[in-house]
Amino acid sequence: MQVYTSKTELNAFINTENRSNFSIGFVPTMGALHEGHLSLVKAALAENSLVVVSIFVNPTQFNNPEDLNKYPRTLAKDVLLLETFSKTEVVVYAPTVEAIYGSQTTVESFDFGGLESQMEGQFRPGHFDGVGTVVKRLFEIVQPKNAYFGEKDFQQLQIVKKMVEITQLPVHIKGCPIERAANGLALSSRNSRLSVLELENAALLYKTLQSVKHQFQHDDPKKISEWVRTQFHNHKLLRLEYFQISDVETLAPIQHKNQTKHYRAFIAVYAGDVRLIDNIALN
Ligand code: PAF
Repeated sequence: MQVYTSKTELNAFINTENRSNFSIGFVPTMGALHEGHLSLVKAALAENSLVVVSIFVNPTQFNNPEDLNKYPRTLAKDVLLLETFSKTEVVVYAPTVEAIYGSQTTVESFDFGGLESQMEGQFRPGHFDGVGTVVKRLFEIVQPKNAYFGEKDFQQLQIVKKMVEITQLPVHIKGCPIERAANGLALSSRNSRLSVLELENAALLYKTLQSVKHQFQHDDPKKISEWVRTQFHNHKLLRLEYFQISDVETLAPIQHKNQTKHYRAFIAVYAGDVRLIDNIALN
C-alpha cells in the first residue's frame, strides 16, 4: 500500500494515473480505522478508478485538548487494514500538521447558515470551522470527483455539503449508512477507548433511538425528549449530553411534525470521558 506524506508526491502519482474516465474517490479520516471506514472505501471503489484515504488527526476541530491527545493514532494498523483492498486502487495520504497548515495552524471562519450552531456546535465551539478548514484543504490537495462521509456524523455531512456549496469546489458529497457493532453501537474510532462494561452499556444509545423512531409515529417531540431523559437519568455509566429531533435540512429542533419534511433524532452521551454520538432517520 502506497502511503504518501507529501502533497507533491501524491499529486505526481495521481498525474501518472490520470487517463480517460479517471476519477478519484476520497475518504477523509482521522485514522483508527474500523469497518465503518472500510464501508466508505468500498463505496468509493465501486464508483471511482482510484481511492485516496487520508489519515490526519486534525488539531483544529478539537475544542478539548485532552480529547486531541487521547485520540487513537494507529497508522501502521490502519495501513494493514487497507491492504485488504487492491494496492493499485487504494492509496493513503497521511500528511503532517505542517503539511496541511504550514507554520501557523489557523482556521477559516465559515457561514454555514446556522447548521453550525445546532447540537455539536453548541457543545464543541469552533469544531465545524476546523472541520470545514481541513476538508476544504484536503479537497484542494486531492481534487476528488466524489467524497464519502458516514452518516454517523450527520451534522458534519450537512456542514461539508454547505462548505462545498459556499466554496463551489467541484466535489460530489456522498453520505453513507452508519455501520454498527452487533449490539447496535455505531462504529467509531473512540469506541476503542471504552471498557468492556462501557461498550455493553453503550448499546442503550441505539436502543433508545430505535424506540424513539417507533414513538415518533404517535408522540410529539417534547414527550419523546422527556422519555429519553428518563432513560439516562441516574445511569451508572452513561451521561446524556443532548437529545434532539431535528429537521434534516436546517438541523433546527422541531416542536411539531410536518408531513412534507424529513426528520432525524440525534443523541450525544458520555461514557466516562469518551463522547459518543448517534442518530436515526425518523421518517
Ligand atoms: O469525520 C472525521 O473523521 C473528520 O471529522 C474528518 C472529516 C476526517 C475531518 O478531519
